[in-house]
Amino acid sequence: MQKNFVVKGNIISSKNPSELAIHENAFLVCAEGLTAGIFPELPEEYASFPLYDYGKCLIIPGLVDLHVHAPQYTYRGLGMDKELLDWLQTYAFPEESRYEDPDYAERAYRIFVEKMRTNATTRACIFATAHVPATLLLMEMLEKSGLITYVGKVSMDRNAPAPLCEESPAVAAAAVEKWLKTSLKKYKNTKPMLTPRFIPSCTDDLLTSLGRFQKKYHVPVQSHLSENLSEIAWVRELCPYSSDYGEAYEHFGLFGGNAPTVMAHGVWPGKREFARIKERGVYIAHCPQSNTNIASGIAPVRQYLDAGIHIGLGSDVAGGSSDSIFRAMVDAIQVSKLRWRLITQDDAPITLDEAFYMATAGGGEFFGKVGKFEEGYEFDAVVLDDENLPAPREFSTHERLERIVYLGDDRNIAAKFVAGRKLFG
Ligand code: GUN
Ligand code: FE
Repeated sequence: MQKNFVVKGNIISSKNPSELAIHENAFLVCAEGLTAGIFPELPEEYASFPLYDYGKCLIIPGLVDLHVHAPQYTYRGLGMDKELLDWLQTYAFPEESRYEDPDYAERAYRIFVEKMRTNATTRACIFATAHVPATLLLMEMLEKSGLITYVGKVSMDRNAPAPLCEESPAVAAAAVEKWLKTSLKKYKNTKPMLTPRFIPSCTDDLLTSLGRFQKKYHVPVQSHLSENLSEIAWVRELCPYSSDYGEAYEHFGLFGGNAPTVMAHGVWPGKREFARIKERGVYIAHCPQSNTNIASGIAPVRQYLDAGIHIGLGSDVAGGSSDSIFRAMVDAIQVSKLRWRLITQDDAPITLDEAFYMATAGGGEFFGKVGKFEEGYEFDAVVLDDENLPAPREFSTHERLERIVYLGDDRNIAAKFVAGRKLFG
């Protein structure tokens, strides 16, 4: 597979969390799958590399979906009449129960993976279900897709209906360990991630085992944190030993520090919890569409950004109905304006450049040197063609980006590269 090449176009990448760097009509060099630099003229040393000239197109780093539920893709756009806990019981758990059947899993995951292959997402942290065979099937398909992902067999041994709820903490822990041993070294681009669904779904014994596996196998962790007020009250009852939701995970070694961790939502962080998120380097996956659909609230993203907390965007399908991280950028901006207008004028709205940062470099950092076109970064790129968005006058490159983010869809994606491999275009 070709890993040395040059792309030409209007190149956009985050300079820092609040500012874009734009290089018009420039050459972006990929050498051995890594970005070698952006140049106004092509240096002699790269003259022999194949050149993909994308003309007027915009070229941006691949988007990162830090939080998505693969088995929920099937019922996007349905069941938006409830809040989290009722929504899980009524829609999510019955649908996920179907993945016990490998034929169903195969049909459903094929649709999900094809969508992820063709949208603007190049990397993702993905929840599967509690079922090991279906999770391995999903990993197999993702590996073939060319995307780079972490996938979690979901752990859940309480407060769920029988077909999904694992029989006991011991059975649940054994299933995770077996799945880890099978999948840890099996794939190049698809890695396992410990996935306690959330505190209400996992007994203390199961969380103890997951903490042990984290240390033993050095695998990252993903879960949900402080999403919904009833959920937070429930966690308080379930974990009297912890002063907040985050501490309930930390108690078991599942909250950052030496355990790289993505926590979805963080809509309602307490003061102490907020400080621990920062101290422990926990990543927040901000999922604004889900937070709106199931009426969870508006996360304090301005505060996370200003504190220098790691933050990226998540679609949270099917709490979020769209798989598009462009859509998540728009939603992040829009809900931040409502927060500023209706909740606190201390939290200034998020700008387009900040949303772009979260969608690329903010989430990308979880995967290493990913999400920017800086030297040594893995070459993930999406080429955007806005020919189908007619304009009666010239727009600046920044304006064209804004229009694509707000008005575009998968038809605007002309090409996609992941770690220097061209997936299409
Ligand atoms: N908390 C626990 N499980 C889920 C889920 O499937 N979706 C969302 N949005 N929150 C959760
Ligand atoms: Fe979720």
